[in-house]
Amino acid sequence: MDDLKAKYLAQISDASDEAALEDIRIAALGKKGEISLQMRELGKMTPEERQVAGPALNALKDEVNSALIAKKAGLADAALNERLKTEWLDVTLPGRGRAAGTIHPISQVTQEVSAIFADLGFSVAEGPQIEDDWHNFDALNIPSHHPARGEMDTFYMHRDEGDNRPPHVLRTHTSPVQIRSMLEKGAPLRIICPGRVYRADYDQTHTPMFHQVEGLAIDTDISMANLKWVLEEFVKAFFEVDGVELRFRASHFPFTEPSAEVDIRCSWDNGQLKVGEGDDWLEILGSGMVHPKVLEAGGIDPAKWQGFAFGMGIDRIAMLKYGIPDLRAFFDSDLRWLRNYGFSALDQPDLASGLSR
Ligand code: PHE
Repeated sequence: MDDLKAKYLAQISDASDEAALEDIRIAALGKKGEISLQMRELGKMTPEERQVAGPALNALKDEVNSALIAKKAGLADAALNERLKTEWLDVTLPGRGRAAGTIHPISQVTQEVSAIFADLGFSVAEGPQIEDDWHNFDALNIPSHHPARGEMDTFYMHRDEGDNRPPHVLRTHTSPVQIRSMLEKGAPLRIICPGRVYRADYDQTHTPMFHQVEGLAIDTDISMANLKWVLEEFVKAFFEVDGVELRFRASHFPFTEPSAEVDIRCSWDNGQLKVGEGDDWLEILGSGMVHPKVLEAGGIDPAKWQGFAFGMGIDRIAMLKYGIPDLRAFFDSDLRWLRNYGFSALDQPDLASGLSR
């Protein structure tokens, strides 16, 4: 009996899978199994012999049975561990959803600009793309004879013969939204106005439709220093660099006095633009202190209020930040271009988690 016990316990301990274990069970405890046959022999024994052999055989049977059960559980555990090793899953990984489309760089940059100026206390205002010439020109101190009207390459809306209403134009800049916002909301005021503008011009850096963002801040104590600080903060946040030098160049716009065009320090490295370092300067916007006549046209008393304004090309700063060489491609609706330069719809630009990821 000791031999039987040693034999089966060794076999059980060596069994490598459940099928082998089942073979051992049948060989030992099956109907014709070795231990079962021994049990049948009990009937032929004398009562004295049976009293000794009976309990011993039962004990052997129990022992082999428990060893089988324990080994079976052990094999199942090992199999599960093996599966867990190959089928593990990191549930903390971000989803990998297939985006059906992408956000156009212009939309992305408009959102980035809005997020930065929102942080500085500016709200977003909008105006119509078909504008009357009073809002687009006169109210901005550009009267009919002014040369700036000619320089703007204006698209005029069709007028029927005999129609003497004031002409409408496709707005040539976002500055008319300054006037609309002043008239609507009064002072103090702190707004940006992103949107489409139109000029009859077409080459690698000009398209007949492009995008600007206007900025306007009006209060009782506003100076060029405020303009400079706001623009510096903007450029740092937008280009995601710490030290950026801005250069203010005296310029002229009918609607600001004094006026300045603003350049940022940069370098070109193998056609790659680096903002904030180097010996080159790049013009990014026009700006100045709002002309008293413009405040008046907006219904705001220039004796009490002052303000600064600026106008920046969205397409231009998008090209600079994301290294997009040809402006015209922005508006070709070429899917390959859109997939390459587009942004994930799930990443909303905000200052806390980063503007562009
Ligand atoms: N409207 C000007 C342009 O389109 C830019 C500008 C806006 C300049 C506000 C000064 C102040 O070029």
